[in-house]
Amino acid sequence: MKIQRIAGLEILDSRGRPTVAAICELGDGTRVQAHAPSGASTGKHEAHELRDGDPAWYAGRGVRTAVANLNQVLGPAVVGLNAFDQGAVDRALCAADGTANKSRLGANAILAVSCAVARAAAAAQRVPLWRSLMDNRPAAMPLPMVNILSGGLHAGGNIEFQDFLVMPHGVVGYPQQLEAIVRVHAMTKQILDERGLVTTGVADEGGWGPRLESNEQAIEILTEAIGRTGFEMSIALDVASSHFYRDGQYHLATEGRTLTAEGMADLLADWSARYPIRSVEDALEEDDWAGWRTVTQRLGDRLQLVGDDFFTTNLERVNRGIAEGCANAVLVKMNQIGTISETLAVIDRAREAGYRAVISARSGETEDSFLADLAVASGAGQIKIGSITRSERLAKYNRLLEIDAWEFLANV
Ligand code: PGA
Ligand code: ZN
Repeated sequence: MKIQRIAGLEILDSRGRPTVAAICELGDGTRVQAHAPSGASTGKHEAHELRDGDPAWYAGRGVRTAVANLNQVLGPAVVGLNAFDQGAVDRALCAADGTANKSRLGANAILAVSCAVARAAAAAQRVPLWRSLMDNRPAAMPLPMVNILSGGLHAGGNIEFQDFLVMPHGVVGYPQQLEAIVRVHAMTKQILDERGLVTTGVADEGGWGPRLESNEQAIEILTEAIGRTGFEMSIALDVASSHFYRDGQYHLATEGRTLTAEGMADLLADWSARYPIRSVEDALEEDDWAGWRTVTQRLGDRLQLVGDDFFTTNLERVNRGIAEGCANAVLVKMNQIGTISETLAVIDRAREAGYRAVISARSGETEDSFLADLAVASGAGQIKIGSITRSERLAKYNRLLEIDAWEFLANV
């Protein structure tokens, strides 16, 4: 099925910042669109998000250059190609850009086109998106890893760690898991209120972002909330440690400590013995390979150690991590690498090496639910979308409800 037309436009994301939308039209009249998300606590090694830098338009955050690249270069590079051959489409997009990190045309423009073509291909075949993405992969409903309390760059730097999340690993069934999480979310608010901890509004991913004394206090409150609701749930942390790493040390001001990698391992060993912590993301800085090895050796048998800024969904970095025994799970964000084919290659490689994968949204999102389908299609097993408030998050959670109720049992 021929790609007939590709067009782009500048739209807004959940932080009110510009992002790229791509529209794809096929020979049979199928017409769909897809949106690029955008991170705030980005990794150094991510593919390049192209912004205009024009102070007169969205304070430099405009994406009109990326949209022009989409219309003038990326579109012509894929129009006429077969939309059912995602590999060929993505190769053409990468070739048109020609750089290793997609900095010439912009990974935001490239990803929007890659996703729009994939969605159009599914629509033309009249199958659900996840179904056309899965190929021979073991499709499965993912376990949600859900943000309840926020810190770091997503909540005005109240505490250092970025995400305090729950995983309902003991609850069976996706709708039941979602219901349980909503109860823990509400219970957390109740505990914050009881203790006089002020919450005004929510953080970037919809979680509570109260002013807390320490990271440990957030973990303790979550543990209390899980205990009071009585569900079998565990805690996941996104430490996002690159953002408080300076001069070879981890500066945890609210804990009153400055730690080495060894010290971070001790801290996590202590906390995971005293609290139901099962998963820790970016415990070490993005280029602290030796630190990652230390923590993986010490804690890899009892904790899921996830690399986000560390791997940046980049196959070369994932391969190096596997070879050097760093981490045991990969956070997967499509816009860190820029095409669906490259994203799926990372997920497939992780599975083959016995690493887990967590499909993740960005802190800046739109109503596009693409990654819900990607999570199911890839059989990754886990998904991280943010909290259960704000519609850019709910678009994905609700899409998973739709897949669970109407599509999954009928198709697999
Ligand atoms: P980001 O945060 O989208 O702002 O990078 C998400 C994360 O760190 O997992
Ligand atoms: Zn992260």
